[in-house]
Amino acid sequence: AERSLVLVKPDGVARGLVGQVVARLEAKGLRLVAAELRTLTVEVAEEHYGEHRERPFFGSLVEFITSGPLLALVVEGPRAIEAFRALAGATDPVKAAPGTIRGDFALEVQNNIVHGSDSPESAAREIALFFPGLG
Ligand code: GTP
Ligand code: MG
Repeated sequence: AERSLVLVKPDGVARGLVGQVVARLEAKGLRLVAAELRTLTVEVAEEHYGEHRERPFFGSLVEFITSGPLLALVVEGPRAIEAFRALAGATDPVKAAPGTIRGDFALEVQNNIVHGSDSPESAAREIALFFPGLG
């Protein structure tokens, strides 16, 4: 089965949305493989979002993602990467369909509640970054 790294970002944790996010992915049939609440260092945040290093919002994004505890999860299931991104909805929560996590719970593009890996390559890289001990 495929694995994906999912984050409930600091806005989602602060707003008390962890339970609803986990309930939705479990209801979909994704299985939890690892879970840890932690506050990212700037170094780990810059590595995680390295593909966005040249973007104008990079500094703001790193500040946001390190601003408080987030919940890091590894989920597993058939087509887990695509399945979770469908649950999350579009990056911009205003464009995200109602019924998706971002569509239901967020309004701002940066503070969009969740992250999900976008390819098998990024899933492998991100899982190794967050959970180096995971087999
Ligand atoms: P992730 O799962 O978090 O990677 O989201 P994504 O794959 O849907 O979007 P993308 O990788 O393009 O952007 C990463 C994150 O940067 C987004 O989830 C937002 O939190 C943030 N972001 C994206 N675009 C903008 C923007 O234009 N402005 C700001 N401030 N943040 C942005
Ligand atoms: Mg992304």
